[in-house]
Amino acid sequence: MATKQQKDRSKRKSKRRLKKKEAKRRDHWESAETADRHDLYERSVQNSESEIDFVLEVWEARRGRIPTLLREDFCGTAQTSAEWIRRGSDNRAIGVDLDAEVVQWGQNRNAERLTDEQLGRLQVRLEDVLEVDPGPADTILAMNFSYFLFKDRESLRDYFVAARRGLVDDGMFFLDAYGGSESFTELEEERDLDGFTYVWDQHSYNPVTGGVVNKIHFRFPDDTEMTDAFIYDWRLWTLPEIQELLLEAGFSRVTVYWEGTDEETEEGDGVFVPTTVGEACAGWIAYIVAEK
Ligand SMILES: C[S@@+](CC[C@H](N)C(=O)[O-])C[C@H]1O[C@@H](n2cnc3c(N)ncnc32)[C@H](O)[C@@H]1O
Repeated sequence: MATKQQKDRSKRKSKRRLKKKEAKRRDHWESAETADRHDLYERSVQNSESEIDFVLEVWEARRGRIPTLLREDFCGTAQTSAEWIRRGSDNRAIGVDLDAEVVQWGQNRNAERLTDEQLGRLQVRLEDVLEVDPGPADTILAMNFSYFLFKDRESLRDYFVAARRGLVDDGMFFLDAYGGSESFTELEEERDLDGFTYVWDQHSYNPVTGGVVNKIHFRFPDDTEMTDAFIYDWRLWTLPEIQELLLEAGFSRVTVYWEGTDEETEEGDGVFVPTTVGEACAGWIAYIVAEK
């Protein structure tokens, strides 16, 4: 999750500028007492703009037409649906999530970040992705590894079959996946953001089942911590397994998009290209596109 975000780069600054910056930073400082976990999640984990950029690029390259109806599975706060709605006046989005608490939070947030007209183009359904049937969408998204909650081949294939059924004839299904040698280890990774620190805790990994428990904590400059803000009990699926199951579910073509490397920072450069050969690096995030 961490690698999707722009990493803070250290810059040399004069003492005076640093002082100014620190004062400003203190204004932004947050505390576990007052912060909201969904707000922190949106700001630290998600990158809806680049996700939608990617979806549009692939649609242009693969289909030469502009999709309008997007379904966001496991939508949580529906931040990505809101971004989709803002991108075009014909765009409509359907978010699907079965957790009433996060859906309500998202409805409140979306009422602030969207106009009434835009809100009219967003539908959020409090339903299970395996059962929802809102009619065919141009494109379906399952991001931030949410589908890793299906822990055996049969249930993951069932979800992929349901997603395929939910698409128009030339529809495309977008997923992401993470991996690399470090993903099989137990570790904690911190990232300093504006007013708080995001902590990605790969809490446990079971090599026998592929089961992982990952947690997100948030730490604050006043030494408070929001521990276990989110806990994910997943199976760490590999790219070949995911591709095979998508094909078994009936998708006609499945493509993995691999992220390039920034030569200076040696980190991901945010540019994803289709490939059949990845890099054996410590940590990676890839997109997968499945065509109906
Ligand atoms: C990791 S969050 C993903 C949030 C957001 N889509 C993102 O990209 O960051 C997973 C979400 O999936 C929802 N969820 C879990 N199982 C689900 C199911 N079977 N059907 C619909 N939503 C589900 C949870 O309530 C949670 O909000």
